[in-house]
Amino acid sequence: MKLESLHELFVEELQDLYSAENQILEALPKLIEKATSPELKAGFTKHLEQSREHVRRLDQIFDQLGKNVDREDKKCKGMEGIIKDNAELLKANAVPEVLNAGLIAGAQRVEHYEIAAYGTVSTYAQLLGRNDWVQLLHQTLNEEKETDMKLTELAGEINLEAQAA
Ligand SMILES: [Fe+2]
Repeated sequence: MKLESLHELFVEELQDLYSAENQILEALPKLIEKATSPELKAGFTKHLEQSREHVRRLDQIFDQLGKNVDREDKKCKGMEGIIKDNAELLKANAVPEVLNAGLIAGAQRVEHYEIAAYGTVSTYAQLLGRNDWVQLLHQTLNEEKETDMKLTELAGEINLEAQAA
């Protein structure tokens, strides 16, 4: 891998996010299926819809970057690891209330990864003078932050249910 400019690093980070988002799209239906808290199910379902939009926003930027940039050039191993950990939780013999709490723990790891990555690419886009890209990336960043806060709120109750189980 050759990286000689902030622009190239921006593209690299964007490819990483593209892979991460697509892995999330693949993983979320399973979490929706396994969650037994209706609020958590609804939260995951909403985030699945949002994530489709996140991919579309990345697609818009890739379209403008041109044909010689392959958006599917990278596999995000960070997200792959987080999702593998979550998959192990799904296989565990967990009581539903404890599983719900564990699903939140995993989902917040996903969100924090995304918040870090979108924060970085927004900053790079700003330095590269692309305010149109900054706007797109900030929209997604804000949705990731909102999702994270919503998960924290849900954890307030769900962790207590897990404790009482
Ligand atoms: Fe996302």
